Amino acid sequence: MPGIVIVGVQWGDEGKGKATDLLGERTDWVVKFNGGNNAGHTVVIGDEKYALHLLPSGILSPGVNAVIGNGVVIDLEVLFAELGALQARGVDISRLKVSANAHIITQYHRTLDKVTERFLGKRMIGTTGRGIGPTYADKINRTGIRVQDLFDENILRQKVEGALDQKNHLLVKVFNRRAITVDEVVEDLLSYAERLRPMVCDTGLLLSQALDAGEVVVFEGGQATMLDIDHGTYPFVTSSSATAGGAATGSGVGPNRLDRIVGIVKAYTTRVGSGPFPTELFDENGDFLRSRGFEFGTTTGRPRRVGWYDAPITRYATRINGITDLVLTKLDILTGLTEIPVCVAYDVDGERFDEVPVNQSDFHHATPILEYFPGWTEDISTARTFEDLPVAAQEYVLALEKISGTRISVIGVGPARDAVVVRHDLLD
Ligand code: GDP
Ligand code: IMO
Ligand code: MG
Repeated sequence: MPGIVIVGVQWGDEGKGKATDLLGERTDWVVKFNGGNNAGHTVVIGDEKYALHLLPSGILSPGVNAVIGNGVVIDLEVLFAELGALQARGVDISRLKVSANAHIITQYHRTLDKVTERFLGKRMIGTTGRGIGPTYADKINRTGIRVQDLFDENILRQKVEGALDQKNHLLVKVFNRRAITVDEVVEDLLSYAERLRPMVCDTGLLLSQALDAGEVVVFEGGQATMLDIDHGTYPFVTSSSATAGGAATGSGVGPNRLDRIVGIVKAYTTRVGSGPFPTELFDENGDFLRSRGFEFGTTTGRPRRVGWYDAPITRYATRINGITDLVLTKLDILTGLTEIPVCVAYDVDGERFDEVPVNQSDFHHATPILEYFPGWTEDISTARTFEDLPVAAQEYVLALEKISGTRISVIGVGPARDAVVVRHDLLD
């Protein structure tokens, strides 16, 4: 089972980093295939806590080859800061490979991200402000800067000139900002070129060869299904393909190399930024989940919006991604609730919807139809087998499995690497 994709089911922060890390010891390669430093993955190993943004979480496992794929957008300052911080903590970063075709986030992308948001006012998306959207927009517009451009100053200069010709009009005339000079951008990018050069290669070729040799490759998705540019709650989404299809295009291997698709889903739901969220809570239950689950963004520190588990979303994600296994995380956070509501369908202006409505306005108006399950009070953080869980927790998991339509193979019962109940081996 060599090609394994990890994708978020909901709106991100489901615990994808921990899931990748969990597979780390039995993995040969980990590739990040979408997004950039908008992601934030917290991984806890023993007493050590790591927060990763741009690098795939698999880099924390000794012996794993880490890859930044062509589908990623790279902020070079962040890349080297993150590498430096890991190296200072004794993590081996020598096996990182970076795709020559990945796009580069520059100063003007970051500036445009922030000013566009400010301009949108009440209609803002609530982006992370890292320049993600404008960089992907340039990629699609064919005015982007790629990693390989850094090794030919002439080409780099021409491309930056071309991009700034347009962008400076926008920055100065529309957004009332100062113009950005070609020299400052080129100089900044070139300052990283020599450090980057040894990492750069045809990563699609490397990964295909690894798969041919029967090695295990984990494709680590950033963001999640409901933030996907095509399948998420557009326009309140990120600008990349965060679903399983993106694993093939974003890393340069054929879709038939993706053998298993693992969806990571929280035992409740969270969202950062604007957009529809049918099960969102504004009461003391919301405060309970936010404080117990420590639901504050790893990247921006923003409090996350919280709500109950939404089964139609899991069914939707299963269909869009072809999910074969679910990892249910943060079950321990629900301990102490007398009853646990689960959304099984939506009510949209009096009409019942069993699946996610295709019309975005309907989804905005959707209110959850809830079913209630008994809670438990026992501490479950030391459970390591399904039978160790209290009966009510077992029943909650079995109910979610049934309404979601996919087997729950792993259950998270705490932040630590070993705080899991494995029901089915993800690599089998
Ligand atoms: P990602 O972006 O999907 O990698 O998720 P984040 O790292 O942003 O957020 C998930 C948070 O939940 C992290 O702080 C993890 O350490 C933590 N976490 C993951 N799984 C569990 C779990 O089963 N129980 C608890 N209590 N925390 C978990
Ligand atoms: P991980 O990988 C949660 C959200 C932002 C915003 C929208 C667009 O940690 O799950 P962007 O900066 O990408 O243009 O912002 O997407 N967002 C995330 N929310 N987890 C993430 O990543 C996210 N990455 C982007 O909050 O609503
Ligand atoms: Mg996160």
